[in-house]
Amino acid sequence: MQLASQCRLLSLTILLLALSMPYSYAVLNYENEIKTAVFLSPKFVLGPGSVVNKYFFNVEFPRGHIAIKSFNGEVVDEAGNPVPLYETYLHHWAVGRYHQHKNARYGEYDGHQMLHQSDRIVRNSGLCQGDVNGQYFGIGSETRRTDTHIPDPYGIEVGNPEEIPSGFEEKWLLNVHAIDTRGVEDKLGCTECWRDLYNVTKDENGQLLRPEYKGGLKCCYDGTQCRKREGYEGPRRGLYLRYTVKWMDWDKTVVPVKIYIIDVTDKWKKSSGSSGESSKHDCQIEYDVEPCSAAGMDGHGSGCIDVKRTSALLPSGGYVIYGVAHQHSGSVGSTLYGEDGRVICTSVPIYGEGTEAGNEAGYVVGMSTCYPQPGSVKINDGEVLTLEANYSSTKIHYRSYVTLLPLGSRRITTTF
Ligand SMILES: *[C@@H]1O[C@H](CO)[C@@H](O)[C@H](O)[C@H]1NC(C)=O
Ligand SMILES: *[C@@H]1O[C@H](CO)[C@@H](O)[C@H](O)[C@H]1NC(C)=O
Repeated sequence: MQLASQCRLLSLTILLLALSMPYSYAVLNYENEIKTAVFLSPKFVLGPGSVVNKYFFNVEFPRGHIAIKSFNGEVVDEAGNPVPLYETYLHHWAVGRYHQHKNARYGEYDGHQMLHQSDRIVRNSGLCQGDVNGQYFGIGSETRRTDTHIPDPYGIEVGNPEEIPSGFEEKWLLNVHAIDTRGVEDKLGCTECWRDLYNVTKDENGQLLRPEYKGGLKCCYDGTQCRKREGYEGPRRGLYLRYTVKWMDWDKTVVPVKIYIIDVTDKWKKSSGSSGESSKHDCQIEYDVEPCSAAGMDGHGSGCIDVKRTSALLPSGGYVIYGVAHQHSGSVGSTLYGEDGRVICTSVPIYGEGTEAGNEAGYVVGMSTCYPQPGSVKINDGEVLTLEANYSSTKIHYRSYVTLLPLGSRRITTTF
């Protein structure tokens, strides 16, 4: 397949794990109901070929000491209609938690501003460096058909007053990265942020791109424009991320889970050098998938799968409550293995087959999830896991690229 051999895929796999220690057969307090709220993000505006990558601070979110049970979202227009991925591709969204000083007078954050020095990101339990991949929730195009609920009696504990430093308030930030592909020359090239289609030479911070950087987040930052078909004109329109949060009031029958995100690009190694000390986490966010020829295409059309692996050590283990991988088009699935080779979770993509929102042909519209029987899948303290991510280069028209935000980076700036 000639085309395939010229292609580079850019991709990332993360695996989100919710772990609990101990596991429990506890029954939730039946008077403690699960509540649901639906919110709209602040509005963002897109025209054909344009890109937004907004950080909305202090977004609406349930308050108080609660257990989050699920979080999901989708892009809707001003009339509230779901917008299909082939018009507005939802590259990713992510939700982060932070503590802000009560005396801070910044007004409402709206994506023009950045985090302030006094703001403290409250990241998840790991494993990337700094605040990278520190979000509580976050997926992308697969958002409409990916299960995110945390089964009873488990929940994600937030808003515990004992954990909020005195003088601070807990707030939430929402990052939305969306690409309008109406009227563009190459829809999938635009969604994968191919450099030639964006005609960029520098990244968002003005740094020159290396010649070998063929595409990725550094090409499709906020305010960039993907190449349109000659003469195509279409209206700019206002859009929202409509997100649904389910939660319950915290009570002692809820068993807390920890969230871990493992990034397949992490360069962490168990021991480096003679000292036997482990290296540092270095999550790269995106990577090139080898072209078919280099990956050893067998020439019979039976597949050309790029397999990428990384190791990850969980300092303290627990029972797996939920697992899901995040991959882009071209994905054929991802598996997390234990140190002894047992399968902890496999998550595979659901490709759309039609035209309606949630079933767009050729797009990853969902990922399968893992809900092991609580108490049945255990990760030991200090166990070294292996995450494996597979991409197909034969599905080359679904060229792939994925990223997640380096949440809380103080270098976040926006351009218009
Ligand atoms: C690409 O960018 C260069 C320099 O900014 C500009 O001169 C050129 O017209 C652009 N090409 C297209 C096709 O937009
Ligand atoms: C990924 O590829 C490896 C190596 O070919 C294979 O053993 C594994 O089953 C594949 N996993 C998925 C989820 O496709």
